[in-house]
Amino acid sequence: MVLRSRILGCGAYLPPHEVTNHELAQRVDTSDDWIVQRTGIRSRHIAAAGETTSHLATKAAHNALEKAGVTPNDVDLLVLATTTPDNTFPATAVKVQAALGMTRGVAFDVQAVCSGFIYALAVADNFLKTGQARTALVIGAETFSRLLDWEDRTTCVLFGDGAAAMVLQAAPGEGNTADRGVLSTHLHSDGRHYEALYVDGGPSSTGTTGHVRMQGQEVFRHAVLRLSQVVEEALAANGLKADDIDWLVPHQANIRIIEGTARKLKLPLEKVVVTVDHHGNTSAASIPLALAEACADGRIKSGDLVLMEAIGGGLAWGSALVRW
Ligand code: ACO
Repeated sequence: MVLRSRILGCGAYLPPHEVTNHELAQRVDTSDDWIVQRTGIRSRHIAAAGETTSHLATKAAHNALEKAGVTPNDVDLLVLATTTPDNTFPATAVKVQAALGMTRGVAFDVQAVCSGFIYALAVADNFLKTGQARTALVIGAETFSRLLDWEDRTTCVLFGDGAAAMVLQAAPGEGNTADRGVLSTHLHSDGRHYEALYVDGGPSSTGTTGHVRMQGQEVFRHAVLRLSQVVEEALAANGLKADDIDWLVPHQANIRIIEGTARKLKLPLEKVVVTVDHHGNTSAASIPLALAEACADGRIKSGDLVLMEAIGGGLAWGSALVRW
């Protein structure tokens, strides 16, 4: 008998204000055509003034807890993946913990930018598998719009805001791939590529928040290579083939990266959950937002094999294979 982190429910929250490419084209020198062709993005949600990462995260958490049939005080581990914390410290996770009315357990943030949700899921899975916690709430939440230089057309058209959450609980399994729950997680980073994608500010460097800076083509090149490797790694670790996958749920950065990865796996696009067109890149929130959408509309069902993958600043990348 082994312990598996079983998924009880997913929930999401998007700030109501939607911004189309046409609206962006009135602010910077860009066009709907350029953005759609190069990225697949058509619109994104942007948080209103005063709407913070913890607000979005708390709403997503309520939604996930309700879907899972779990109360906040059943949760003994809250892991929040974000690159856009409310404050430098303490962790945004403790703000969410208090807002949910949790009076027990432990809450902390994980920072791995666009791979944040996979990293947070891996952390929670290891806590649950080893018996250090029984019920976990894993959240990806971002107000990435606050890090954008709205004069820089090469970055400001790519990102959006949002939050989504997943509730997991330890449950016994047989130790094979028929078990429901997280089958494996695979994490990597390579700090030599720090400057390919970073924010040019921070408390210890400039004392300012800073803005996103990116070498787009460099990131693109690494993304297709690393994502293909890390999905193969997940399949090999479980003795499975790409054919066995019911759903690929990739980080939603760019439709060309998503299609490139699916092509390498020889996976038809009908098996890929795509939300980049209406969410943009929401960094740590992108995978759970896609999961919440595909669960809510009935695509992902109990027993399905779901493969998630992400890459982002660091560079940091990873994958997670889950039997739903
Ligand atoms: N609107 C119109 N023109 C633009 C825009 C824009 N928003 N942005 C750049 N351009 C121009 C450039 O200035 C350039 O013009 P020039 O030829 O006159 O110099 C031209 O378009 C081509 O620019 P490239 O950078 O070569 O365009 P590319 O095809 O590489 O697309 C993009 C850029 C979309 C950023 C692409 O490189 C990419 O998707 N990279 C991956 C980066 C990414 O996804 N980052 C997200 C975070 S990391 C992650 O989540 C994986």
